[in-house]
Amino acid sequence: MFSLQNKTALVTGGASGIGLAISTAFAQAGASVHILELNTDQAQKVADELNAAGGRVQAHAVDVSKQADVRAVIDQIAAEGPIHILVNNAGIAHVGNAETTTEADLDRLYNVNVKGVYNCLHVTIPHLKANGGGVILNMASVAATVGIPDRFAYSMTKGAVLTMTLSVAKDYLKHNIRCNCISPARVHTPFVDGFLAKNYPGQEAEMFAKLAATQPIGRMAKPAEIGALALYLCSDEASFITGTDYPIDGGFLRLNN
Ligand SMILES: NC(=O)c1ccc[n+]([C@@H]2O[C@H](COP(=O)([O-])OP(=O)(O)OC[C@H]3O[C@@H](n4cnc5c(N)ncnc54)[C@H](O)[C@@H]3O)[C@@H](O)[C@H]2O)c1
Repeated sequence: MFSLQNKTALVTGGASGIGLAISTAFAQAGASVHILELNTDQAQKVADELNAAGGRVQAHAVDVSKQADVRAVIDQIAAEGPIHILVNNAGIAHVGNAETTTEADLDRLYNVNVKGVYNCLHVTIPHLKANGGGVILNMASVAATVGIPDRFAYSMTKGAVLTMTLSVAKDYLKHNIRCNCISPARVHTPFVDGFLAKNYPGQEAEMFAKLAATQPIGRMAKPAEIGALALYLCSDEASFITGTDYPIDGGFLRLNN
C-alpha cells in the first residue's frame, strides 16, 4: 500500500517541518524526490541523510516566488525523465490584522504563498500533461476556511491556495491530473517556533501551550502525521480523490465549540 515506486516527486520547501516529513515519507515509499528550497544547505543535508538511508533525493536551490528560477530547475528535472507529483508546500507565516499588516508584508506573503504556488503549477502542469497525468498536492491551512485572530495576510494566501486547488482540479480533469490540498491546524515545526520567537519574545512557552490547546485533541500535529496524509493523497490508492481540501486538525474545525 501507498508505494511511490518509479514516481518522481517535486516537494517545495521540502527541507524543514512538514516539507521534510513529506520528502521523508515519499523517499521511504520509493519515490525519486526533488527538494526545491530556498535553504540550500539544509536541503543538501536532508538529501544526504535520506540518500544514506537508501533514498533517491536531490536538492535544488529555488526561490518559488521567482518564476525564472522555478522554470530553470523544473524544466531541467523534466528533461531527465517524467515528473509525476508536485507538492506545493513552501510557505511563510505572518501575524497581524488588516491595520497592522504593512503593504510590504502583504506583498511578501503573496509572493511566496500565492505566486510561488502559481509559478510551480504554471511550469509543472505542461510536463504532467505531456506525461499523461499526475498528482498535485497544495499546502493550505485551516486559516483558509475559518477566521483565525491576527492572520490577515496569511489567511488571504491560504484561501487562495484552496481556490487555486479547485480551479486546477477542475481544469485538468481531462488531463488525468488530480489536485487536492491539505489544511493542517497547528503543526509543531520550525515555522511555529520561528513565529513565536519573532512575535512573542519571552512568552514562547506560554504561547506554545496556548496554541497547542486550540486543537481539541490537546496538542499540535507532528509533521510525520501530515507526511502520511500527503503520501496517501499522492499514491495510486487515492485515485478517486480530486478537488478536495483535507483538514488534518485534531478537531480544530468541527469540535471547537
Ligand atoms: N506549521 C503549521 O502549524 C502549519 C499549519 C498549517 C499550514 N502550514 C503550511 O505548511 C507549509 C510548511 O510549513 P512548515 O511549518 O513546515 O514551515 P517551515 O518554516 O518549517 O518550512 C518551510 C520551508 O519552506 C522553505 N521556503 C520558504 N520560502 C521559500 C521560497 N520562497 N522558496 C522555496 N522554499 C521556501 C523554507 O526554507 C523552509 O525550509 C507552509 O505552507 C505553511 O503555511 C503550516
